[in-house]
Amino acid sequence: MEIIKSIHDMQSKMMQWKQSGKSIGFVPTMGYLHEGHQQLMKKARQENDIVVTSIFVNPLQFGPDEDYERYPRDEVHDTDIAKKEQVDILFYPHVNEMYPKDQTIRMTVHQRVDVLCGKSRPGHFDGVVTILAKLFNIVYPDYVYLGLKDAQQVAVVDALIQDYNFPIKLRPIATVREQDGLAKSSRNVNLSDQERIEAPYIYQALLHGQKLMQAGEQDAEVIIKEVSHFIHTHTHGKIDYVDLLSYPELERVNHINEQVILAVAVYFKHARLIDNVVLDQQGSFATAIV
Ligand code: PAJ
Repeated sequence: MEIIKSIHDMQSKMMQWKQSGKSIGFVPTMGYLHEGHQQLMKKARQENDIVVTSIFVNPLQFGPDEDYERYPRDEVHDTDIAKKEQVDILFYPHVNEMYPKDQTIRMTVHQRVDVLCGKSRPGHFDGVVTILAKLFNIVYPDYVYLGLKDAQQVAVVDALIQDYNFPIKLRPIATVREQDGLAKSSRNVNLSDQERIEAPYIYQALLHGQKLMQAGEQDAEVIIKEVSHFIHTHTHGKIDYVDLLSYPELERVNHINEQVILAVAVYFKHARLIDNVVLDQQGSFATAIV
């Protein structure tokens, strides 16, 4: 595995692969790699000649009161994981390499972001599309692997690729979970012991919502209320949102008659956890996604 830190070196390397007709699979990350990330790398490895992973904690997607400084970092561990997953190139730029100066042009996302995490994290997805547009122009990927754990991110990147004609196919990958159902996340290390015991109830709440849909409930409000109640009764976390929306458009639905996302975000003391399920009209797990 080669570790590259400069944009220029990366572009010349990738251009060579591109010109020799190799397919390039790209897994963008912010590091502190875990099995969720590894699943994306495995999928990329299966489907491509060349696998590129990037590790970059992107300051632009963190709000002023968010955890940019305390976001966990571990270069040695991450390098080992990437090697183990047979990544060919690890792009590991310094922040000054990616943002040498204040940008003259800013990207603003104005659909699919006034709900869920976009609502409680204003500007977050502007930062995500900015860094991904830059990374796409550095890595030249054919396929990009994103986790459905961040389903709103998948929906926004789907729009980025379409709106800006990136010649890239999006590959959404199912959420990887701990045995007790908790979605794997770099932020789970910030949970206290008691919070770690309560956290799996977030996924249980989503499954409770799914069961209601499968039993024929089609009123989004009823499901949202039930899921919120479930989280309240089983955890000390503070609910940021519980919502049910069309997917990937992320528009409000009253009566469910299309593919939807049931999504939650819960604040614990030092970690905000998110989770979701994407379901078809009958409440089965969706397969086509985007
Ligand atoms: P990060 O949080 O490091 O996540 C990198 C990728 O791993 C994302 O696509 C995310 O959805 C996926 N992922 C994380 N946990 C997962 C899990 N439990 N199961 C499946 N996939 C999981 O998302 C970002 O970084 C950044 O916003 C980024 C896209 C890199 C742009 O900066």
